[in-house]
Order: sequence, then C-alpha cells, then structure tokens
Amino acid sequence: MTQAEKGEVAAAASSSSSAAAAAENGKDKERDKEKEQRGGGGGGSKRPIVPAAVPESLQEQIQSNFIIVIHPGSTTLRIGRATDTLPISIPHVIARRHKQAGQSIYKDSWLLREGLSKPESTEQRQNGLKMVDQAIWSKKMSNGARRIPVSPDQARSYNRQMRPAILDHSSGTKWTNTGHHPEYVVGEEALYVNPGDCYNIHWPIRRGQLNLHSGPGGSLTAVLADLEVIWSHTIQKYLEIPLKDLKYYRCILLIPDIYNKQHVKEIVNMILMKMGFSGIVVHQESVCATFGSGLGSACIVDVGDQKTSICCVEDGVSHRNTRLCLAYGGSDVSRCFYWLLQRAGFPYRDCHLSKRTDCLLLQQLKETFCHLDQDLSGLKDHEFQVRHPDSPALLYQLRLGDEKLQAPMALFYPATFGIVGQKMTSLQQRSQGDPEDPHDEHYLLATQSKQEQSAKATADRKSKPGGFEGDMRGQSANAAENLYPPEVELGTSHGECILGGNDSEEPLTAHMSRKSAVSQFEGKALGLDKAILHSIDCCASDDTKKKMYSSILVVGGGLMFHKAQEFLQHRILNKMPPSFRRVVENVEVITRPKDMDPRLIAWKGGAVLACLDTTQELWIYQREWQRFGVRMLRERAAFVW
Ligand SMILES: Nc1ncnc2c1ncn2[C@@H]1O[C@H](COP(=O)(O)OP(=O)(O)OP(=O)(O)O)[C@@H](O)[C@H]1O
Ligand SMILES: [Mg+2]
Repeated sequence: MTQAEKGEVAAAASSSSSAAAAAENGKDKERDKEKEQRGGGGGGSKRPIVPAAVPESLQEQIQSNFIIVIHPGSTTLRIGRATDTLPISIPHVIARRHKQAGQSIYKDSWLLREGLSKPESTEQRQNGLKMVDQAIWSKKMSNGARRIPVSPDQARSYNRQMRPAILDHSSGTKWTNTGHHPEYVVGEEALYVNPGDCYNIHWPIRRGQLNLHSGPGGSLTAVLADLEVIWSHTIQKYLEIPLKDLKYYRCILLIPDIYNKQHVKEIVNMILMKMGFSGIVVHQESVCATFGSGLGSACIVDVGDQKTSICCVEDGVSHRNTRLCLAYGGSDVSRCFYWLLQRAGFPYRDCHLSKRTDCLLLQQLKETFCHLDQDLSGLKDHEFQVRHPDSPALLYQLRLGDEKLQAPMALFYPATFGIVGQKMTSLQQRSQGDPEDPHDEHYLLATQSKQEQSAKATADRKSKPGGFEGDMRGQSANAAENLYPPEVELGTSHGECILGGNDSEEPLTAHMSRKSAVSQFEGKALGLDKAILHSIDCCASDDTKKKMYSSILVVGGGLMFHKAQEFLQHRILNKMPPSFRRVVENVEVITRPKDMDPRLIAWKGGAVLACLDTTQELWIYQREWQRFGVRMLRERAAFVW
C-alpha cells in the first residue's frame, strides 16, 4: 500500500472515528432505553454471558491487514483487506457442474422475476408509464419551457429498418473453458459458462436475502455452501491468501439493515467454523455507509440491483422503525428499459431476458444511455456493440427519445415494473425466537407483565410526536386504530405477528400500527421518494427528522444516473410535509460523498470500522462462538440484535 493510500485510510478512519464512538454510545443508549422500557432489571434485562474478550494485549496494534471485509450483494460481491483502498468486485454467482449426466439445466433468473406475466401485469405497466409521462410533462425544464414528449413511433420506423454492421468475425469474448470439467466456476467465469454446458447457475443472494427456493440448490445448506465456495475462491484467487491461513484472519461482515437472524447466524457459523476465520464483527450496511462517507447521521438510501433499502442512521445507530426494504432495484430498471427499447423497435431483435449475455448487455445499455436529466429531450442517435461468444462483433445504430428518462423514473412509479402479486415492501420480521438464545425477545416479552406493557403502550401513544401529518402515515395510524382498538389484548399477540419490526423497544400497539401500515402497502411498491419520506417520518423526534432531511445519502449502484442527485432532491423538496419545508434549512441529497463510488461506500465503511479501537470489543472469536453460539451476537453485535 502506498503512503498516500495509507493516509487515505487513516483519514477516513479518523473522520469516522467520532461516528463509530458515537455508534457505541448510541448502542449503549439504545440498550439503556430498551432496558428502561422493559421495566428495568427483572427477568428482562440483558446479562453479559462472558466478559468482553480483551485482545491478548491492549497495546496490540490493530492488524487491519489481517482483517477481510466482506460485503455480499445480490449481484456483486465486494471483498478486500481492510487496508485495501478498493475492494475486489466480482459477480456474486456460481456455476456448478451437474452431478449426473442428463440432468436438466437450472439457472436462477436475473432480470426476469415472478409476477411479470400475470393478467394485470401489462395494464399495471401501462398505467405506471402514464404516470411517468405525466410527471415528465408536468416538470418544466431549467429554461422554464415544458418538454415536448417524443412518441416511440418516431424512433420505431427508423430503428426497425436498421441492420447491424459486422465489425469483426470474432466478438473477442469466449465462453468459459469447462473442458477440464471443474466442479464449479465463480464470478465472471460463471456468467460466461456456455448455456449448453451441464452447469447450474446460482445467485446465492437475491433481493438482498439468501436465495432459498424449492428448486435445485435452493436449500439453506446449498446456498451457504455456494457462499462459502465463492468467498473462499475469491480470497484465494484475488487476495492471494491460502485458505489454511484464514485462522490468522478476522472478518467484518456487512449484513442488510433488514436481516434475517437465522440466516445471519448461519453465515457467521459458516465463516467461523467452516472457513476458519478466527473472529468476526457483523455490522449493518446502512451504518457502514455512514462510516464510509464520514457522515455522522443520514437517511441512507441504498439502491442496489435487486432491492432498495432505506433507513435513518443517527450517530451509528440504525433506527429500526425507519427501516424499509423495497423489492426492486437496478435490474428492474434494466428490464423496463428493455420493454421500452422493444416498443421503440429495438434493432437487436434476438435480445432475450432469459439469456445471461443479453442481461449483461441490457444492464450496460441502461448504464450508458439512461439519465434523470429533464433538460435532455428529443430524439437522438446512438450506437452500441453486441459482442457475444461464438458470434461476430456487431455494431447497431439506435434512435432513442424519452425511453432513456422513462426507465429510471420507474423507480419513482414502480407500477411501471409491472410486478403483480408479490410482496414489494418489507420491514424487519418479528423474531420467531431462538431456542439457542435463552434471552431472546420472546423470553423478554413473556417476562414483562401485561400491565407494564399496556401502561407503556398508553404512555407511548400520548408522547407520540405529532410533527408530520403526511398522508400515508395519517391514514395508516387511523386505520390501525380502527383495526386494533387500544384495549386489544397485547400480551398474547406477539406470537402471531409476521410483519413489522421486532423491536423489543417498540410497544405492541405501535407495532400493530406499523403492521397495518405495512399491510396497506406491502403488495404495492412505494416509489423511492415516498419511501424516503416515510422512513424519515418514522424517526422519533422532529429534530431527527430535520437532520435526516438535510442528509439523504444515496449509495449502491442503482441510481447512478446522470442528474439523479438533482432529480431526487427536487422530488423530496416538493413532496415533504410543508411543516418541515418551512423549518429545514437545506434539504440535501448526497450521491457522491468525497467523490467516492457510491457502490463502494458501505464496504469502505466496513474497512474504516476495522481500523477503530472501539471495534476491539465487538469481535466474536471462534472459541466463543463454539461455546456460546448465537448468544454472542446478542452480546457483541454493534446494534441491538
Ligand atoms: N453508471 C450506472 N448507471 C446506472 N446504474 C448503474 C451504473 N453502474 C451500476 N449500475 C447499476 O447498479 C446496480 C448494482 O448495484 P449494487 O452493486 O449496489 O447492487 P448489489 O449490492 O449487488 O445488489 P443489492 O443491493 O440489490 O443486493 C445494477 O443494476 C447496475 O446496473
Ligand atoms: Mg447492495
């Protein structure tokens, strides 16, 4: 590592050290609050099961070079030493050879998904597109004029008659050589396995969660095995660390803000007991994003390939009630762009969403052509190349108009994605309890008397801040009161809750309001701007809300469009409640903090975390995990587990 790089890491560490220290304080505060709310002491308090592990010697230098930061995404795995300036980024995919000849080929889909071919899908898509067009038309350009809409027919006649030019008889790309029958190949090589070869294709993470399904390779064991193989292979190949040496290494694992406890537990177990790392710290993506950007507090908007997650982070604490995950992301924009291209007579007529190479091409075309710039209007001619293995390199001419703006705008009008009958919005699932953890939430709730619960619920209702009377929130709160009158028997209801936060700190009435709020919109996808407003509105105090409005940090790759910052800022300003518009001095959307690549910010935050003194007490060591299992996560996690 060069001196300059070291300097950068050190600077990043120091800029975030206050945030991380605050994170610890925040965690303590959150825990105190939680304890208080459970009626203090009694059976509900947290008891340390072992004293915090003190490193062999307190003077020991932080060995960041021996810490590997892993940020697994739905489409991209980011992994590197905490001292690296940038992580290795590889497609998070594995191709596995068939065990027996004659098996049919299985492949996880990428741009295709369920719910697209329901009878209502087309109509929903068209309605969404009408809303997009209306929004484009109603917003003026910077010169005060309105955009003149371009009909797809204008481009279609031109595009339809276009034929590709052959640039070269060889495309310059090749299928992965599987002649030696490797048991598996991962990353880029897996993407380029010939579809005719006897390999199944698995993306172990889809929509931000483990990709469990009933098809081949969809069991928990199989998905964990895929993760282990991909990560081990990458560590060996790119970080040049022999696997037997992992016992000298520790790992920082970034997990989604809305995480599945059972899955996190299994992954931690795999990292410590199978891969053989000596220790681990698990932290949330959103909090790491604040560390990576050097911001103390922010509303984190992570637009990924498959999901979009939003949550408000204050001094290192991700507020549970503000966490929201939307089941759409960049891949849905790419598919939407493909439909719009087809409508405009896309000259590459053999393009199919079921082909991996075409999915790659479509993602690339979206990244190159799409934008959120209201000032760019009219028809324009473009060209693009298709370079698929076993085919010539082709050059296409293409004329496009509003399609380039319409596709990214679908993020704000997700009906345009045409997804019907799927769960599109989720909050943190209420815990199902964990038999390995005697102090899980069920135990805590069960040991709290009914009087305590209802007294706290009443107090909470009275103290509920009234700042924002946003439409959605107002409706849902009212609806909740009708559906769940306050005298509902609180003590018995927690077991049946499927949705909603698993906040131990959240009174059950509040939880139910949230539950009904979510059930109102879980089938529909909230637009990105509305979801941000909703998340901010769920902050506990007006002061925090104000803080969030002035620091909306967009990370992940899904919104990396030209003028996205201005576009989102304008929409938030227009849609925020007037009471806040008057008091918030500057609404600020940040898309490139410190001019960094937004896709790498959370990973960078993980690296910053590794360098901090305060992280030392968060490590869970292999021997402790072996002995105490998941209880160590409750004890050491940097957030309320
Ligand atoms: N320049 C760009 N313009 C527009 N979109 C881009 C650009 N670069 C990358 N993307 C999109 O960003 C998405 C990938 O984002 P990211 O790497 O954050 O996802 P991920 O972390 O793998 O997935 P997820 O967060 O959904 O689990 C892809 O849809 C990709 O096409
Ligand atoms: Mg991501």
